[in-house]
Amino acid sequence: MIVFGIETSCDETAAAVVVDGKEILSSIVSSQVNIHHPYGGVVPELASRKHIEAIVPVVNGALTAAGIDKKMIDAVAVTRGPGLVGALLVGFNFARAFAFTLDIPWVGINHLEGHINSVFLELDPPPFPFVALLASGGHTSIYYVTSHTGYALMGQTRDDAAGEAYDKVAKMLDLGYPGGVVIDRMAEKGDPEKISFPRPFIDKSTFDFSFSGLKTAVLRYIQNHGNGYRKQVPDIVAGFQEAVVDVLSDKICHAAKVKNCNHIALVGGVAANSRLRKKVMHEASRDGLTVHIPSVGLCGDNAAMIAGVGYHYLKTGISSDLSDDVYSRIRR
Ligand code: KG4
Ligand code: ZN
Repeated sequence: MIVFGIETSCDETAAAVVVDGKEILSSIVSSQVNIHHPYGGVVPELASRKHIEAIVPVVNGALTAAGIDKKMIDAVAVTRGPGLVGALLVGFNFARAFAFTLDIPWVGINHLEGHINSVFLELDPPPFPFVALLASGGHTSIYYVTSHTGYALMGQTRDDAAGEAYDKVAKMLDLGYPGGVVIDRMAEKGDPEKISFPRPFIDKSTFDFSFSGLKTAVLRYIQNHGNGYRKQVPDIVAGFQEAVVDVLSDKICHAAKVKNCNHIALVGGVAANSRLRKKVMHEASRDGLTVHIPSVGLCGDNAAMIAGVGYHYLKTGISSDLSDDVYSRIRR
């Protein structure tokens, strides 16, 4: 089954062609990073306008790169939520009109389910069940995953998401947006042991996370050091990153242990983090666990993961109705 995927939940306009939920024929992602960069975060109104400009070229680009005509598409899958409503509406309305004119089924997809299923676009997907850490700009959660569309939430952040903490710390240090990639690179030049930041909720009693106190600890450190902090930026970001990575890796490995499960997946934008990937691999090999992390291009927002999970709904006959609508917050 050839599924055409569309994703516009935040600041990436994406389209992809995926066969049978696993083989990517094309995946085009048009990023708006340059538009939002001066503001240090995503401006919803600008995001919607840019999606409107980009959606047709991105869709055409995905068809051309896949080498298929639109008549060959069997179904359309599109992100329905959670995300920015104005941004979601662009992709959602495009997708249902596209499917309507082609007279094919279409299905609205939960963006988080897309991230969880991103591991199935790689050659060595995990067997069920597995535990997944989803860490992105909007969410940080651990799931016990039993099928492509079946999963139970084990814990989640009580305040900021991990990616949001990266972005906010980068903003405090004038490093630009999005902060994850910049901090990832800069941390390599710093000493992660030099400045010790708190590891919130690292105790084993909960799978919940909290990153806002850590963010405040970094802010206090900056405020307490006057202009002197400027020479310490690599050490500050390395210390901050080490705290985030310690908590994330500890909790996902512990979740596997509690569930008596040997397989771990890391998904979402923060799964692209080089230190996190290394640390989880290391801890998991100590515990005899296998780790599944998508390639960097599939960690961030993309439409291939949406087409991938869409296939699993569509093949069991589940599709959306023309009257369906988008949603901004988590819903199942
Ligand atoms: O999954 P994603 O593309 O969008 C959301 O659904 O939120 O995640 C974006 C988040 C941003 O906060 C960004 O700073 C973070 O992922 N990120 C990273 C890295 N690359 C992206 N965080 C840490 N290290 C990275 N290499
Ligand atoms: Zn995402």
